[in-house]
Amino acid sequence: MIIGGSASQKLAANVAYELGDWLCPIETKKFPDGERYLRIKGKIDKEAVVIQSTGFPQDENLIELLFLIQNLKDLGVERIKVVVPYFGYGRQEKRFKEGEAISAKIIANLIENSGADEIISINLHEDSVRDFFNIESKNLSAMGAIAEYISQIAIDPIIIAPDKGALHFAEEIADILDVNCTYMNKIRLGPDKVETRIADIINDFPADDPEFGHLADKNKKEKQVNIKLVDGKEAIIIDDIIATGGTIVNAINILKEHGAKSVSVCCVHPVLVNDAVIKIYAAGAKLIAGTDSLKSEVSSISVAKVIADALR
Ligand code: R5P
Repeated sequence: MIIGGSASQKLAANVAYELGDWLCPIETKKFPDGERYLRIKGKIDKEAVVIQSTGFPQDENLIELLFLIQNLKDLGVERIKVVVPYFGYGRQEKRFKEGEAISAKIIANLIENSGADEIISINLHEDSVRDFFNIESKNLSAMGAIAEYISQIAIDPIIIAPDKGALHFAEEIADILDVNCTYMNKIRLGPDKVETRIADIINDFPADDPEFGHLADKNKKEKQVNIKLVDGKEAIIIDDIIATGGTIVNAINILKEHGAKSVSVCCVHPVLVNDAVIKIYAAGAKLIAGTDSLKSEVSSISVAKVIADALR
């Protein structure tokens, strides 16, 4: 029994299709005063999987998720696996300034106390969010699905992490596709302002390279290369989240300066605040692709199989 909340109906349908399970219909609406209504319209099984991302409008989607979980428990479901492909509030997983709410922890408590028996998410912004749960938890990776997509749009690309935090995504994809990767250094100056510089890294130039050979001994990881190698190549930027697009625009500018033949952009969670897509295309991106963890105009990579495999 698979139930999709209104934020993840299509994804839930695709997961149900992958598993050969049935999709339980729901009815949701808002009362004239703004309060939410939820009705589960199908036959109730002993076990259920609820799929609901908690992206924009975060609070409404979260309330609907809590309604779904607790209502299912009230109706007699014994075990509920809760899939939150995009875990809203996941970026506030600690107190950055004194007095701040640790939002991710509060959300985790709400989900667990509603009756979730297991929580599954995809590329949580910080894996440590799982520590807020006392129930079984999984943090799945969409990198396999994204790598498969990249293999269809680019030949021998170089994979770029727009900040060091995204380097492990770039490495995961580079390993799958057997191509090179690199990263940039990013300083966040405010919620919608970032500064990016090329990283002083790791070079994999062969020792006999006339220009850069002296850097050969700085090799750290097999796939990581100097950004100069982007010259004439198809560059693919990978990040977990695109929000305002500032991070990606900076990275595109640097890649173009360094002679990239083209720059495409992939992400797991296309949060896409305001005109992020326009800003990224205006900066010269060839294409933007995100997963369907969130519904958006660029959600062309499905994580349905990733989720289905974890549920099997
Ligand atoms: C930050 O650490 C994340 O991985 C993303 O790089 C960030 O959320 C992107 O934000 P924006 O699109 O607003 O630059």
